[in-house]
Amino acid sequence: MNKKTVRDVDLKGKRVLMRADYNVPIKDGVIIDDYRIKQSLLTIQYILSQESASLVIISHLGRPKSPADKDCTLAPVAKRLTKLLGADVAFAGDCIGELAEQASNRLNPGGVLLLENVRFHKEEEKNNPEFAKAIVVATGAKVFVQDGFGVVHRAHATTEAITKLLPSVAGLLLQKEVDTITKVMEQPEHPLVAVVGGAKVSDKIDILRRLIAIADCVAVVGAMANNFLKAEGVNIGKSIYEPEVLDTTRDILETARKTEASRQFNFLVPVDVVVSKALDGSALTREVDLASHSLSDIEAYPKMPPVPAYTVAPDELILDIGPISAAYIGGAVKNSKTVIWNGTCGVTETKGIAGAHDPFAHGTRIVVDAMIGASRRHQGPFTLVGGGDTVSYMETQGLVGDFSHVSTGGGASLDLMSGKTLPGVEALLDKSASEPATQMPEPRRL
Ligand code: 3PG
Repeated sequence: MNKKTVRDVDLKGKRVLMRADYNVPIKDGVIIDDYRIKQSLLTIQYILSQESASLVIISHLGRPKSPADKDCTLAPVAKRLTKLLGADVAFAGDCIGELAEQASNRLNPGGVLLLENVRFHKEEEKNNPEFAKAIVVATGAKVFVQDGFGVVHRAHATTEAITKLLPSVAGLLLQKEVDTITKVMEQPEHPLVAVVGGAKVSDKIDILRRLIAIADCVAVVGAMANNFLKAEGVNIGKSIYEPEVLDTTRDILETARKTEASRQFNFLVPVDVVVSKALDGSALTREVDLASHSLSDIEAYPKMPPVPAYTVAPDELILDIGPISAAYIGGAVKNSKTVIWNGTCGVTETKGIAGAHDPFAHGTRIVVDAMIGASRRHQGPFTLVGGGDTVSYMETQGLVGDFSHVSTGGGASLDLMSGKTLPGVEALLDKSASEPATQMPEPRRL
């Protein structure tokens, strides 16, 4: 990354303001998944290791309409940080004004303070310079460290405007994310296999186009594969799909087929799917062999299999890829040197009645096993995983440590992979900058 990092600036004795992405799932005040919090510890510990430095952290959580939205308070994050750091992390009920100022004034060298959700002020998302200034003034910060990789695709006050006020550098998490993802996209070791899933194809259009250009195999899975099936004229019953991007889906499919004709490349659309009449762990499921050339043929040969064997009924929903599709993808993954995975293959949140395996997570599990190896000891491909839901699934399965790089970013990692500019990274000091081009505003009471 050609930006200065926290290692390039002198932090001794300084008050450091760090932007993190602590947008973590919280239910009834309990943090469900603290991956993003854990990943920020490296930068926090580095800052605290600098003699007499003190640290104020800011973040957003969710998309609150007002401060009355108590589900979006960062208070539980301060408690989790205290536990993870093994040191007290103070919390202030606002990120500007008296509360923030008083808490900042109480901060001793070596101390850490987390301020309340920046999105409790509508000025944050408006990239308002006065709001950014109010944060800087209240905290008395001298340096700004951007470490919230998950939010740098947004031009907000705490990703963009604030960098005009303080010398602004990248944190160690941000650096690792940008460097790793950029290297995989620009100099991947081939064969490169991409598995792209999730709910909406509209979120993945740019990344699919980029992957078709650089990968050796792209597999579309999850609910967004329904658009590709629909575009190919396959009955998808009452499965969700996005009619408004059906033409775009056809266009992507055409590009993929042309690429297949022009070089060694495969574009995999599911050939079999798991369906049910309800998204319910106890509803009956069945496998539909869409191409009617695999499992169904074996039993029916030499007769054609019955129509339901290869047709999704009007009242059925596609909820997972089938075992044949999973085996195709798994085979490609096993022969690869690099894997990019974004989006699960089916619905992984539905709990089954059978215990160990959830009914619509089998496809994902087969593909995951190919990525990490059933023994978890094989010298498998470099595995880059991005996307909020994919990471949550891996966290619940205890699999995060088995992958080479699990990104903390959802939209940000997709944008970076798609080759887009990230405003929150662009705004940081260039590596070559000799001195900060930014000016600290004069302190004033709010
Ligand atoms: C994320 O979870 O992707 C980031 O925290 C950004 O959140 P946002 O989509 O609400 O801006």
